[in-house]
Amino acid sequence: MDDLRDKYLAAIADAGDEATLEALRVQAVGKKGEVSAKMRELGRMTPEERQVMGPKLNALKDEINSALAARKAALADVALAERLKGEWLDVTLPGRPRREGTIHPVSQVMEEVTAIFADLGFAVAEGPQIESDWYNFDALNIPAHHPARGEMDTFYMARAEGDDRPPHVLRTHTSPVQIRHMQEYGAPCRIIAPGRVYRADYDQTHTPMFHQIEALAIGRDISMANLKWVLEEFCRAFFEVDEVELRFRASHFPFTEPSAEVDLRCSWEGGQLKVGEGDDWMEILGSGMVHPKVLEAGGIDPAEWQGFAFGMGIDRIAMLKYGIPDLRAFFDSDLRWLRHYGFRALQVPELAGGLSG
Ligand code: PHE
Repeated sequence: MDDLRDKYLAAIADAGDEATLEALRVQAVGKKGEVSAKMRELGRMTPEERQVMGPKLNALKDEINSALAARKAALADVALAERLKGEWLDVTLPGRPRREGTIHPVSQVMEEVTAIFADLGFAVAEGPQIESDWYNFDALNIPAHHPARGEMDTFYMARAEGDDRPPHVLRTHTSPVQIRHMQEYGAPCRIIAPGRVYRADYDQTHTPMFHQIEALAIGRDISMANLKWVLEEFCRAFFEVDEVELRFRASHFPFTEPSAEVDLRCSWEGGQLKVGEGDDWMEILGSGMVHPKVLEAGGIDPAEWQGFAFGMGIDRIAMLKYGIPDLRAFFDSDLRWLRHYGFRALQVPELAGGLSG
């Protein structure tokens, strides 16, 4: 039995592939194998002999079976290691772009704006594009017959016949996200909310779908001065220039008091838009101190909290920064336009590494 044991264990250790192992298995512990033949001999032994030999043969069979299994696993490991060596790939190598797509200027600018406001401590919030008229209007201090509803050129969603609840709307601005955020998280807060908005309007600087970025900062003593600083800081970082000139114009929004519209000095000379020079002004945002009624609608006590909000046109500032003269071209999906104004796909805007590359 010891001879059998040594012979098979050595052969198993030497086996170089699965087929050899299988042949050894059949030869040793298969039905007609040598160990099985020995087991059949048990029948011819005396009970005393059988009592000694039975367990020994069983132990030998087990030993051979586990040696077979161990060798099989070892061979599989070697095969896997070989395969991994052949299929090895350096994932840190830079990509090799072919027929590279580009990032749309709106996406690029959203990323840039988000990076700048993240650096100023603003988190990102979101809300739905199909909005109830309460969030889009009433909660923002625009009651049912307020003229501001008309000025917004609202798209209304259809209701089923006989359903006379007020219709949902395609949100006309990102301001409803202010209410949703206040309701969910309370005060204090510091957020921006980028996204799509919709108004029935179409010319060189207006499209029926466009993009805004809302900001809301609420604290115990936040003032217009903080608003002005944040906006100047933002514009310098965004336009990547040392000086930009902003003009605060007194204005009116139902949801802020006082309110101001902010224009940016620019030039259209030769059909080319440039920031920080020239005699033209481009309106880029509406802003103000959050109206007490709006705080109340968001569940925040206006006796304790105050803050500023603004809503900025993303497409507008994209046009300004990248000298794109016609807003309508943004949404034409003309490949030549996208290749010309698009951005490299693998570069992520960040303040340290450069916003626009
Ligand atoms: N929601 C306004 C608009 O779309 C902009 C705005 C936002 C104004 C926040 C003031 C405060 O025109």
